[in-house]
Amino acid sequence: MTESGVTEFASSSENLALKEAVIERIQGDGPITFQDFMAMALYEPGLGYYCSPGEKIGRAGDYLTSPEVSPLFGVMIGRQLREMWHLLGRPGTFDIVEPGAGNGTLCRDVLSWAARTAPDFLDCLRYILIDSSPAMTRRQRDLLESERLTEHVRWEACLPQAITGCILSNELLDAMPVHRVSARDEGMLELFVGWDGRRFVEEFRPPSTPALEDYFSRLGIDPPARCLTDVNLDAECWMGEAAARLSSGFLITFDYGYEAAELYAPWRTEGTLLTFYHHNPGSDPYLRLGRQDMTAHVDFTTVGRAGEQAGLATLGLVSQSQFLSNLGISEALRLGESDRNLEEYHRRKRAVLELLDPAGLGRIKALVQTRGQPQAVLTGWAEGVTDA
Ligand SMILES: C[S@@+](CC[C@H](N)C(=O)[O-])C[C@H]1O[C@@H](n2cnc3c(N)ncnc32)[C@H](O)[C@@H]1O
Repeated sequence: MTESGVTEFASSSENLALKEAVIERIQGDGPITFQDFMAMALYEPGLGYYCSPGEKIGRAGDYLTSPEVSPLFGVMIGRQLREMWHLLGRPGTFDIVEPGAGNGTLCRDVLSWAARTAPDFLDCLRYILIDSSPAMTRRQRDLLESERLTEHVRWEACLPQAITGCILSNELLDAMPVHRVSARDEGMLELFVGWDGRRFVEEFRPPSTPALEDYFSRLGIDPPARCLTDVNLDAECWMGEAAARLSSGFLITFDYGYEAAELYAPWRTEGTLLTFYHHNPGSDPYLRLGRQDMTAHVDFTTVGRAGEQAGLATLGLVSQSQFLSNLGISEALRLGESDRNLEEYHRRKRAVLELLDPAGLGRIKALVQTRGQPQAVLTGWAEGVTDA
């Protein structure tokens, strides 16, 4: 359990208008599920963390993602995408669909790399960005317009039909709101959030939807007894939908997470929900409402199966560190003739080590699934190369 209910009403670093909206909803409907609370905290129009102005992702924000560490991440992704384009027979239009694109940094880095080194590939690219937050979409537009990279870019409100190419997400699923449940002697209970006039209060009630018990029956796993367990129904649903929209090509999912048996291990007593504020992790979701990020690890067994049920074949699941090593990121550790000064070289070296860090970004998982290329051997997921 978090130290729930300890948040006083007037904390300067929270979004008071958002807090009022959450309280009003609770006063109207009664206690809401934790999932509804998290959805409002992150995505309430105009008020939620991702839907309000300000730096969120990157060194000046609250947490770092791989594209924000270095353009080398985009270069490795670019190499993998070009290989996929070749495997599909170099179609005249190759879609890269990136939902949850954040600041638009990965898109910038893939397109810049293609412009420098793969102009034939660039000519065939249609890069489609989708983000549920208008504030993040604006950041993407500002970045790509300022770098004159919009020629191959389009923004869509939702996943297009009949995609040929690759759907690619980085830390999208772990930003979706989760239900929190607990297996008790009397059966599964779900965490609800109420308001006692001074603070948010947690209470357990029967599940809001049978989908939560069904989730574990389908996995054939019991949620660990008397623990707090996070269930991301939206991620499963999103993967099924994304897979259905893919006519031909690949679905790549980068995220923090584990296979179900590891994610729902009995020793994980508090689930995996984390908050981030100015690069400090925390565990109290009621603090700094609308000003801190919230995230929970992904169940790769369930999301993988969702893709398979929509007709995709799974080609591989590796750590990000292995993926990047397979694609040759360690070349960047060599001091080259083009390194004008040692400072530049050391900056690059630090970035590579950060992307490969087995206790940090390197432990992110990379899942790849396909429609139409079940025999494909992809460099990023090649066997025989071990983690750096
Ligand atoms: C953790 S950030 C990751 C950003 C970026 N991919 C990166 O690696 O820096 C999650 C992003 O996903 C967006 N998002 C959340 N749910 C979404 C959904 N269902 N569809 C599209 N975008 C979504 C958020 O607005 C945010 O921009």
